[in-house]
Amino acid sequence: MKIAIGNDHAAVQMKKDISKYLEEKGYEIINFGTDTDESVDYPLYGQRVAEAVKAGKADLGVLICGTGIGISLAANKVPGIRAAAVSEPVSARLAREHNNANIIAFGARIVGLEEAKAIVGAFLGAEFLGGRHSKRVSMIEDIEKKYNK
Ligand code: RB5
Repeated sequence: MKIAIGNDHAAVQMKKDISKYLEEKGYEIINFGTDTDESVDYPLYGQRVAEAVKAGKADLGVLICGTGIGISLAANKVPGIRAAAVSEPVSARLAREHNNANIIAFGARIVGLEEAKAIVGAFLGAEFLGGRHSKRVSMIEDIEKKYNK
């Protein structure tokens, strides 16, 4: 499975550590940066990862900034993207199972490495359950369509 990963300057080391963790688990990582501590603008990285997922270049995405909030807000502006900002693994699993989230986001200033590993592990290990959840995800898409004519 291919995973697109992106981050801002607040999360360079976290991105490296999570990428290594995922590669050891057999995932293919596509890195969209940033890779230095120089201050950058998180919307650019949220957009890059979101566009890669949208285009099918990656199956799912991982986004990390200071809080996970800004970078997920940016990603969610790309039609078809459902980026969930979480800070623990139960929400990460449910974001996939109930919301069919295709990107998980979290904050390197909020969670430690072990919690971050648990978050991505829970997200990538889960599947969308469909059923009653499909209708609700479709309703989210309807809102998106209404404003993207
Ligand atoms: C960068 O200082 C910080 O604002 C960013 O990483 C993120 O937390 C934004 O939501």
